[in-house]
Amino acid sequence: MAFSPSFHLPLFFFLAFFLSPSSPLGDDAAGISASKIYIIGVRNDLKPSVFSNVEHWYSSTLQVLSSSADSHESSSRRTRGKRKLLHVYRTAFHGFSAVLSPAEAELLRSHPAVLAVLPDRPRQLHTTRSPLFLGLVSADSRPNSLLAATDFGSSVVIALVDTGIRPDHRSFADDGGLPPPPSSWNGSCDPGPSFPATSCNRKLVGARFFYDGYIFNARGGAGSDVFSPLDSHGHGTHTASTAAGGAAPNASFLGYATGLASGIAPRASIAAYKVCWATGCYDSDIIAGIDAAVADGADVISISLGSGVVPLHRDTVAISTLGAVEHGVFVSTSAGNAGPGESTVANVAPWVTTVGAGAIDRRFPADVVLGDGTVLTGVGFHGGKHVFKTSSFPLVYAGNASFSSFEAAVAPFCAPWSLDPAAVRGKVVLCERGEVPRPEKGLAVKKAGGVGMIVANGPTDREGIIPDAHVLPAVSVGYSASSKIKAYISADRAARIRFIFHKTQVEVKPAPMVAEFSSRGPNLQSPHVMKPDVIAPGLSILAAWPDGVGLTGMKTDRRRAEFNIISGTSMACPHVSGVAALLKAAHRDWSPAAIRSSLMTTAYATDNMGQDLVDETWGNTSNGWAFGSGHIDPEKALHPGLVYDLTMDDYLEWLCSYNYSSKDIRTIARRDVNCSEKAGKPWDLNYPSIAVVLEQSNVGNLEAVVHRTAMSVEKERSEYTANIKEPKGVKVVVEPEKLVFDGKGQKQEFVLKVSTGPVNLPAGNSRSEFGSVTWSDGKHTVRSPIAVTWRQPD
Ligand SMILES: *[C@@H]1O[C@H](CO)[C@@H](O)[C@H](O)[C@H]1NC(C)=O
Ligand SMILES: *[C@@H]1O[C@H](CO)[C@@H](O)[C@H](O)[C@H]1NC(C)=O
Ligand SMILES: *[C@@H]1O[C@H](CO)[C@@H](O)[C@H](O)[C@H]1NC(C)=O
Ligand SMILES: *[C@@H]1O[C@H](CO)[C@@H](O)[C@H](O)[C@H]1NC(C)=O
Ligand SMILES: *[C@@H]1O[C@H](CO)[C@@H](O)[C@H](O)[C@H]1NC(C)=O
Ligand SMILES: *[C@@H]1O[C@H](CO)[C@@H](O)[C@H](O)[C@H]1NC(C)=O
Repeated sequence: MAFSPSFHLPLFFFLAFFLSPSSPLGDDAAGISASKIYIIGVRNDLKPSVFSNVEHWYSSTLQVLSSSADSHESSSRRTRGKRKLLHVYRTAFHGFSAVLSPAEAELLRSHPAVLAVLPDRPRQLHTTRSPLFLGLVSADSRPNSLLAATDFGSSVVIALVDTGIRPDHRSFADDGGLPPPPSSWNGSCDPGPSFPATSCNRKLVGARFFYDGYIFNARGGAGSDVFSPLDSHGHGTHTASTAAGGAAPNASFLGYATGLASGIAPRASIAAYKVCWATGCYDSDIIAGIDAAVADGADVISISLGSGVVPLHRDTVAISTLGAVEHGVFVSTSAGNAGPGESTVANVAPWVTTVGAGAIDRRFPADVVLGDGTVLTGVGFHGGKHVFKTSSFPLVYAGNASFSSFEAAVAPFCAPWSLDPAAVRGKVVLCERGEVPRPEKGLAVKKAGGVGMIVANGPTDREGIIPDAHVLPAVSVGYSASSKIKAYISADRAARIRFIFHKTQVEVKPAPMVAEFSSRGPNLQSPHVMKPDVIAPGLSILAAWPDGVGLTGMKTDRRRAEFNIISGTSMACPHVSGVAALLKAAHRDWSPAAIRSSLMTTAYATDNMGQDLVDETWGNTSNGWAFGSGHIDPEKALHPGLVYDLTMDDYLEWLCSYNYSSKDIRTIARRDVNCSEKAGKPWDLNYPSIAVVLEQSNVGNLEAVVHRTAMSVEKERSEYTANIKEPKGVKVVVEPEKLVFDGKGQKQEFVLKVSTGPVNLPAGNSRSEFGSVTWSDGKHTVRSPIAVTWRQPD
């Protein structure tokens, strides 16, 4: 699962298993395989009145289409039976999905009511201590004001669009004290194998599953799935319990991280929409899940999955999340685990809240002791008997233990079946990180007879290390330790090592840090919107795990536990979903943009040592491309003072400023827009962060004028003054310097004049500097980061 670094499936591995060079399907099948799933966006306002509902209309359009496409193609392969709609989308998205031949897709494109015909795409999936770290509870477990003010999020429904849920886990128990779901809730508990309709309760108020897109795309490979909302993977149970799991005392994992496990909004309701299956999650099913969640009345949708960015008018998930936001639903998404490289961030639409991962103040240290006495510290869990503390074992480099020259390229990464048992038996193996999912490395070493493993970072991952529950004792080490261990192996043919696993370490400094794997900006799709928006806990998060699923998620892993510790922006996203549910419970009238604004403007960019947030990868100061506005601070978000609100009109104006055509805007927003009446610049979207891009011309000064409108959310009269931190080499002037609000709902505008001298950059290059504008009335601090990028055109 690319979005959880524990389960990353690299492409070559994927291909090796799922595509054989000679297709078992015959010639005939080659024709069928030209048929694909398409998602069709439709203008429902053009529905002829003879059709009583859109479903009849779509269905009939499809029948007519397939007979006329038949006459064009004169193909014998197509069965002339009734064509089926895979899914009908009615709420967040308007349209349907169906299996079409390329000719049919082309014909449909020319239909006057059709806005877009887009191919289906796959996406990948991307806490005892985190509520304490977030300041939601005090050290003696007493709730602070946000939890108290919101009755722990009761009467708010969080929808998880994910791998389903394990309903009998104690994190989802109805403890008898929960209120019934809100009267507006219209979800259902759809039964299926191992999931009776009675699986739902007052905690789990809805459970549904969407698989038609997957069945077609998997082409017969869908055998081992459970076609019900039951989570047979683990990811969905983990994310759901992070957002809103009930209090579970005495939770721990292999004896680590013991304590009371609780979701962020422990009294909020959960609804599970299972859209991810054994080989991935397909857009056609994902938008069916989002559509259903909105129709059912969810308040928050949590989406911990993603893929590479495409323009918004071609991104059906982005389009349906705009539909959700239009219905007042807050949508949080994971930023992706493709860091630390630049411009790797996914889920970048300005109407969703994009969440990167931070490392909290808890670590799981483990030492590697070399035969020469050198002690190097990494991270790891070990639950079994601790023979490694006293006994040392011979150490071998995986790249020197390749089974044959055929595996030489993949053996350093401990790919399945690449290691020679004769070289590995009874030894600890040092495997390079990357290329193969980390749990698979452990399995490969164990199968070859190895007794332990070191997962060694390369120069890209540097010092960002992730502990995993490997199938054998294992320690993950950073690049500098890995270089020392490799030098030791090379120098000493009789190299031996010991491991020492330590207890859970808390109150680590500095914290938080930006997690190495967390995807980074700038946002390739729309560089004038800073993404990710915020970071939240995403490294080594303890949360519920389904019975019957191995700790590493691998089928061969027979180890079971009630809780599991995993990492990823997938884990960060539901923290924000939970906090958004609390804010929604406290402020029923806030829009999704107002909730996001309060999270962003109160986020902090300094750590528990008082220094600027550090990047775990290199240990240097990080910046807004990695953490956006900063790390969330839920208690402060309850009373932000001011918010930067956004309406559908604002998003439309922004789309115009991006030169999207009127047809594309209609596809995205399902309405006609006359862009010539809108004159805003792309950085004028009333966003809580500010990103200005200046095209270098080498003549004279560069200038941008940024407009913002702040709205008071406090009853009392207030007077705010601005404090500017200028980015290096940039002059920023704010007008006016003082904003006065009479009370709740009142708006005031201001402008920021951003100017710089020319900067000499090679063609095609860019450079960014960061600053901020902070409004304060003495009680509230409303901070917006400012990113200024100079870009030299090619
Ligand atoms: C609730 O769902 C049912 C069945 O799907 C539907 O008939 C009804 O109109 C829905 N009610 C609301 C208030 O949306
Ligand atoms: C937690 O476990 C300990 C030791 O097993 C036990 O004494 C205690 O009662 C348990 N607490 C709860 C709340 O279950
Ligand atoms: C791998 O084997 C080569 C050749 O024997 C040796 O030079 C090298 O040091 C070994 N590498 C490690 C990391 O052990
Ligand atoms: C931190 O250091 C790395 C490696 O030198 C560098 O690539 C990165 O840009 C630095 N980060 C920042 C924010 O300067
Ligand atoms: C939109 O087009 C105008 C005119 O060609 C250009 O100046 C502007 O930079 C474009 N905007 C974006 C965001 O690409
Ligand atoms: C868009 O607005 C402009 C300016 O108001 C007007 O001249 C033009 O006719 C409008 N275009 C359409 C298609 O309505």
